[in-house]
Amino acid sequence: MKIAFFDSGIGGITVLNEAMRQLPHEQYLYFADTLHVPYGTKSKEEVQQFVERAVDTIIKLDVKALVIACNTATSIAVTKLRNTYDIPIIGMEPAVKPALEMNRSTGKRVLVLATPLTLKQSKYAELISRIDDHKLVDSLPLPELVQFCEDLNFESKEIIDYFTKKFSEFDLRLFGTVVLGCTHYPFYKDILRRILPSAIQIVDGSAGTVKRLTQLLKDKSQLEETGTTSVTFMCSNDDQAYIRKMEIALETLKK
Ligand code: DGL
Repeated sequence: MKIAFFDSGIGGITVLNEAMRQLPHEQYLYFADTLHVPYGTKSKEEVQQFVERAVDTIIKLDVKALVIACNTATSIAVTKLRNTYDIPIIGMEPAVKPALEMNRSTGKRVLVLATPLTLKQSKYAELISRIDDHKLVDSLPLPELVQFCEDLNFESKEIIDYFTKKFSEFDLRLFGTVVLGCTHYPFYKDILRRILPSAIQIVDGSAGTVKRLTQLLKDKSQLEETGTTSVTFMCSNDDQAYIRKMEIALETLKK
C-alpha cells in the first residue's frame, strides 16, 4: 500500500523528498490541490472545505498513511480529519520548538516564516504561548511566496528583492534561527542561505514529520524494508503539465 502526501501545490514535495531519503523502499502517492492553490491567502472556511474534499479523494485510493504536507491545511483541518479516518494522519507545524532549543545558549531570536492563514490560526497562537516563555519569537507572513514557487521562480532578482524588502523590518543580527513554516519555502533554502547573515540557522519541519510517520508505520508493522520506491503524482484538475511540473520540482530537490 502507498503512503499519501497532500499539499495545495508543489510545496509538500519538499517533505516527500525527505521521506524518500529516510524511507527508500516505500511507494508514494502525491496529491496537489491545483484547483485551489494557494491556500494561505484564502479564508479558513474555504480551506477547510478544500482539504476535506481532497482528503476524501485520497482516502478512496486506499493508502496506508496520509501526510498532510502543508502547515496551512494542518492548522485548519487535521483534528477533524483524524476523527474521521482510521489510517495514521501526520500533520506539520512550524518547527518553533527545535528553533528555540538551538538558541538556548545564545538567547537569540527566532523568526517564523509562514502563510498568513497559518499565522492567524489559534493552533499557532497556542503553540507560541506554550513554548515562547521569553518572548523570543517573531512571525513574518509571506503571502506572495507560494505563487512565486508555483511558477518555479526560485532564483530571480525579483525573489531576492522580495526577501530583502520583507526582512528589512527586522534587525537580523538579533536572530539565531529562521523557521520555514510552509512546505513551499524550503525551495528557497539556497537563496535564503545567501541573503541571511551566516550565523542564522534555517530549519524546517520535514525531518521531524518523516520521523513521526516512520514511528507510526513501525508501530503497525507497515514499514517496507526492501524493494524499489515509486512516486505517483496526481492533482485535482488532472493537468498533465502540472504533473510534469511536480516531477521537475522533485528532480530539482534531489540535485
Ligand atoms: N504549502 C502550504 C503550507 O505548508 C501552503 C501553501 C499555500 O498557501 O497554498 O503552508
